[in-house]
Amino acid sequence: MNLLVVGGGGREHAIIQKLKEDPRVERVYALPGNGGIAADAECVAIAATDLDGIVDFARSHRVDFAVVAPDDPLAMGCVDRLHAIGIPCFGPSAAAARIESSKVFSKNLMHKYGIPTADYQVFDDPAAALDYLRGADYPIVIKADGLALGKGVLIPESFAQAEAAVKSIMEEHIFGASGSQIVVEKFLTGPEVSVLAFTDGTAIRPMVSSMDHKRAGDGDTGPNTGGMGTVAPNPYYTPAVAQQCMETIFLPTLAAMRAEGCPFKGCLYFGLMLTPQGPKVIEYNCRFGDPETQVVLPLLKTSLLTVMEAVENETLDSLELQWVDQVAACVILASGGYPTAYEKGKPITLPAQWPEGVRCYHAGDQLENGRLVTSGGRVLGITATAPTLAQAVDKAYAAAGLVQFDKQYMRHDIGQRALSAGKE
Ligand code: AMP
Ligand code: GLY
Repeated sequence: MNLLVVGGGGREHAIIQKLKEDPRVERVYALPGNGGIAADAECVAIAATDLDGIVDFARSHRVDFAVVAPDDPLAMGCVDRLHAIGIPCFGPSAAAARIESSKVFSKNLMHKYGIPTADYQVFDDPAAALDYLRGADYPIVIKADGLALGKGVLIPESFAQAEAAVKSIMEEHIFGASGSQIVVEKFLTGPEVSVLAFTDGTAIRPMVSSMDHKRAGDGDTGPNTGGMGTVAPNPYYTPAVAQQCMETIFLPTLAAMRAEGCPFKGCLYFGLMLTPQGPKVIEYNCRFGDPETQVVLPLLKTSLLTVMEAVENETLDSLELQWVDQVAACVILASGGYPTAYEKGKPITLPAQWPEGVRCYHAGDQLENGRLVTSGGRVLGITATAPTLAQAVDKAYAAAGLVQFDKQYMRHDIGQRALSAGKE
């Protein structure tokens, strides 16, 4: 089979490597892919947001199945466009992708269908937002409405900070057009869990749970990033919590999307907080999370292509997923300065061979005269699998130490919170 994968980060690299474990796969095209993905797929210089280019390419290259991984093309309707020319596809329609692309849509959905989430208010007028914030409890959470690469969230500690936040989102548009509406919500506390789930709109198969490390600095300090490292499974996500999430969050969300006329098919990501009042939804993503995918997919035994076909054909109900009984840890190697300003074009030195149980997913690099150089904020994800979390973390850091590029930056405490789970 000829497969087409839209996207070009660490998540797409992990998806491509897992798809290729299925012997039916003959060829994988990555649009656009990246320098490291080029070792596993034919990279084609068509941007993930160039829907006309993607559709033309798919039509002229006998693509048997397509996977659309990033949020932007999903929100723009890439899956709808590929379906329209008869190409089987994994990913939600644009209507279903609103669960991520509009925080107002997702908050209103949860409110209407009684799905637990933080109490909230929506504002499109800065003056009204400030009136409300003057009398609010702090800290409080302010979110820009649209896609903002996981960075559209500010958590002011005082009214003065809230005032500055409203100004920067709604007037200076630091998150772009996504800031014309904001959601102001209650600050919740508790461990965070990411659950990625395959769903065909009705049946759902949650994947192994995971824990992201979103802040740039050690000890969860500094600005929010796309994610600096992950571990899976997440020790806070016990079987009892999983059962509760299934009943109060997962199934109700699928039913809500069906009732709204936009059943969700693809990978639905539940960003959860385990609060003293029970699990609540912090956010939905309409796609595989990154770097969560870099720890979750290495643990999947079932053919990813088979699962994706079952989602597309709406036969997921008859498929049980098999998982490796191991733990995975991923350390992101980033360019110093990420998530704000950073330099590009630094040559990357990789070991000739990775230790057993280690995978290197390429996120932000490109080939320049045959040589890998950095081209993004998050450059590589180094994932290790092992029988225990402590072993996986040690192995991932030891392997990360084998990589060199100028101004390389990583967090040094990935997995520490998970290791101390239950000991607080
Ligand atoms: P989001 O992009 O919605 O996932 O938010 C990014 C991060 O902000 C989350 O991973 C949380 O750590 C934090 N956050 C978002 N919403 C809340 C909330 N209501 N209470 C506390 N923290 C939050
Ligand atoms: N790691 C969180 C995300 O993919 O948005």
